[in-house]
Amino acid sequence: MRKKIVAGNWKMNLDYNEGLSVFSEVINMINDEATGTQEVVVCSPFIHIHSLVQLAKGQNRISLGAQNAHQAESGAYTGEISAKMIKSVGAQYVILGHSERRQYFGETNELLAKKTDTVLADDLKPIFCIGETLQEREANTHFDVIKSQLVEGIFHLDAEHFSKLVIAYEPVWAIGTGVTATADQAQEIHAFIRKEIAAKYSQQVADATTILYGGSCNPKNAAELFAQADIDGGLIGGASLKSRDFTDIVKAFN
Ligand code: PGA
Repeated sequence: MRKKIVAGNWKMNLDYNEGLSVFSEVINMINDEATGTQEVVVCSPFIHIHSLVQLAKGQNRISLGAQNAHQAESGAYTGEISAKMIKSVGAQYVILGHSERRQYFGETNELLAKKTDTVLADDLKPIFCIGETLQEREANTHFDVIKSQLVEGIFHLDAEHFSKLVIAYEPVWAIGTGVTATADQAQEIHAFIRKEIAAKYSQQVADATTILYGGSCNPKNAAELFAQADIDGGLIGGASLKSRDFTDIVKAFN
């Protein structure tokens, strides 16, 4: 059985104290209310990670992640953070290839392939994001776009490394817009992604890969999305900033 995951992506929100209190609330609510076998990952800004790891000690369902990492191991890259540093504070995941990083920071598939290698070399698990823009969907090129993001970003990995990845399908037109992909639209792409993985690796690898949906996921639509055959959880932006909403999304798996 592949892992069910609900991951929060705080983006550049919540100062240090706000982050600690939201996270403490999430831990308490999940322990009190969420009975499923899902894993919960919170991808906070870098500065929170160390303290959140301390708060999460002993919580075997809750782990921490970063939202980006540099492709180099170390060096003269002022202002950057390496995968090794992220690992050293106890995080387990790193979001790579989020559409905001592709769009605002010029991250290409080629660069993301390097980042993926570095993150895996440091024994962290990438949450690798892919997804088409509205123009690409309207031009009916969304399957091609998704395929090239897979091929150029992660299909250079061998099966052993590939099996450490989590994939997140996030249609760019659904991120932060309040417009969610319908369950059918999301399922269609998730099934396509799984088919491509099976063709490249094997059906066994494809069946074991966790594929998350992201984009305006909220407590109202989560259950229907997560009930789809190929949707294994969510990557949650806005709704992960509120402990009540985030917990209710986690509970969509109860
Ligand atoms: P959203 O963001 O839930 O606010 O749409 C999702 C994401 O960007 O990961």
